[in-house]
Amino acid sequence: MLLENRQTTHLKTHPKQLILMATKAPSCSTRFRSPASAVWFLPAAVFILLLLLLRRPTMDPYAPATPRGPVSSRRAELYGRMARDLDERGAAFLKGGETSQSLALSDLFEVRDGAVVPKLKAADPPVRANVLYLDPEFAAEIAKAVKEVFLPYFDKAIWFQNSSMYHFSMFHASHHLEPILATRDEIEAEVDAVKRVTEAVCPLKISLDRVVLTSTGVLLGLWQVESGTDPADIRSKLREALPRAPKKQLYDSVLLHTSFARILGPPKLPQQEDTSSFGHIKFFHGLVAQVNGKIGGFQAKVSELWYVEEYDVLALALNGKMKVRRLHLGCNEGH
Ligand SMILES: *[C@@H]1O[C@H](CO)[C@@H](O)[C@H](O)[C@H]1NC(C)=O
Repeated sequence: MLLENRQTTHLKTHPKQLILMATKAPSCSTRFRSPASAVWFLPAAVFILLLLLLRRPTMDPYAPATPRGPVSSRRAELYGRMARDLDERGAAFLKGGETSQSLALSDLFEVRDGAVVPKLKAADPPVRANVLYLDPEFAAEIAKAVKEVFLPYFDKAIWFQNSSMYHFSMFHASHHLEPILATRDEIEAEVDAVKRVTEAVCPLKISLDRVVLTSTGVLLGLWQVESGTDPADIRSKLREALPRAPKKQLYDSVLLHTSFARILGPPKLPQQEDTSSFGHIKFFHGLVAQVNGKIGGFQAKVSELWYVEEYDVLALALNGKMKVRRLHLGCNEGH
């Protein structure tokens, strides 16, 4: 599902023009000079009303996001689909994980000295990712809520994302599905191009729309944008700045998500609970609802974009080896 890459559709009529049409029309309705004018006026008014209902306002790509704009409704729709994923596909991450040694099902983790540790593998070639960065001031509060709810039931069958590394994937200059090789100089040129983008991008005020658990066992925070440059616009600016980047990007252009944790095996259910897979899913929904109760609507500000060279597979997610360039969102006009 995350592989979708939809295009923004731009309608041609500006909302202001429609409002003008709508306000002009009723002003003539106060004084009909003859019954004949009423005859054409009524169908015209109905026609204009229909137009207003059928057309949606255009998005000015440079205007700050409005909470009810079309991008935010596309985002809400996407989040609705992501929330249904667990019910529709089931808990795929539990398949083959019936024994207590369920960690074996994961290629990514192992238990060493009683702790869950990632099994790092070199990424060849390294992945080059652009991500928005969530300040640990905000991330720590989220991480605390997530741990309070999940830790008691999962012990060593869960990996928590490092809260110093909470991030929102935006755009890849190169990824594992379509590697784009680059020399050191080419990488420096990419960093410069991305820096010019970040100078024009405005910091985002965001709120946590909801937390969902995917069928692959990843606990995701899905965010809405209150103000600042919309992620869809950031992605299109990065696309322009990085023309060699993979055509197919990994995420829907309106998606703004953070990974909080990854479940690696079945929960330790309370004694009386139903341990069928249906019972598990009901139990997971309960935990996710608890997390939403604690941090749903949580507000944060994002003011950095990171250009990251990931030398290990999933380095950002697994505390792997990487090189980070931290870039501030400058919000300068004229760029
Ligand atoms: C979390 O990330 C920070 C910053 O990269 C690092 O210093 C710290 O060691 C990491 N924590 C763990 C538990 O790996």
